[in-house]
Amino acid sequence: MTNKGGRMRDTGTKLTQEDTEHFPEIRQLSYAGVRYQLNHQLALGATSTVFKAADEWGNPLVVKRYQADADAAMWKKEVANLHRLRHPRIIFMHAAFEQQGWRYIVLERWGVAFGRFKLKKPQGRERLCRLAARSTLEALHYIHRAGYVHGDMNPGNVLIKLTEANKPVGIKLCDLALAQAMVPGSRIKLKVAAWNPAPEWYDTATFGAVGQPMDIYHTALLLLEVLLGELPVFSEEEIVRGAPQRLALDLHSQLGEALALALTPQASERPVAVALWRAIAKATSPQLPAAKQ
Ligand SMILES: Nc1ncnc2c1ncn2[C@@H]1O[C@H](COP(=O)(O)OP(=O)(O)OP(=O)(O)O)[C@@H](O)[C@H]1O
Ligand SMILES: [Mg+2]
Repeated sequence: MTNKGGRMRDTGTKLTQEDTEHFPEIRQLSYAGVRYQLNHQLALGATSTVFKAADEWGNPLVVKRYQADADAAMWKKEVANLHRLRHPRIIFMHAAFEQQGWRYIVLERWGVAFGRFKLKKPQGRERLCRLAARSTLEALHYIHRAGYVHGDMNPGNVLIKLTEANKPVGIKLCDLALAQAMVPGSRIKLKVAAWNPAPEWYDTATFGAVGQPMDIYHTALLLLEVLLGELPVFSEEEIVRGAPQRLALDLHSQLGEALALALTPQASERPVAVALWRAIAKATSPQLPAAKQ
């Protein structure tokens, strides 16, 4: 999951697709008196396989099953994070348990990875950007105020729910496996997503400590990708020289300027989540792209 230097992998767009032929070996689970039915694979992550599922109440769910050889501490940490960080814009955990050598997390099902949803025409992009900004930044505001860093903001960890006509309904944040509480003053080298790392991840001495501003940077990158339709792969050199910020400024719009501020290479100069949202809200029309939530 980590990426040290070199060219970056774009986990957001290269996610393994849904596989309707692949089912888990154990398809019925029972925990705390509730039965769960597991269906086909929805995604194959680096540490887990995510299966479509439902409980006997009829709730649409997914079951995230950690790979057998995955670090048990990571599962524990994700469960603890999902338990601590409950919020309407964060995927809700229904249950978590170990059974017959497997570790599971049962989660509300919420659409598809954001990176899989592309608008062909540029018209709706600004409105989609606003919708994504509102939800991700609201979630981040809550996470950051709790003293945590998400640490893995990328288009695979933001989920978008769509209507049958493919209109966006709402967006939520998932994958709290790398989230962690920050101890003020301490310098933590966070494990970070194999997406475009922020400048401080390469060079803390120049750009500041790795922490909440990294989430803001990654969110702005994600929103920039929405606006551009796709995001170039940045080299380490381009990142530390501020190429993403330049790209945002080249949009020559108020929205581009708001994103450029969040893409400032200096971590301490980036806005906090709610300030970035205010700038984006001011720069965009409040009209939602589709049916309201
Ligand atoms: N609640 C959910 N509803 C619908 N799809 C989901 C849900 N949770 C996860 N997914 C799908 O599974 C993918 C992987 O989930 P997640 O990121 O939690 O696992 P991971 O093993 O940490 O993956 P990675 O290492 O790629 O980040 C997501 O990108 C998404 O496509
Ligand atoms: Mg993930």
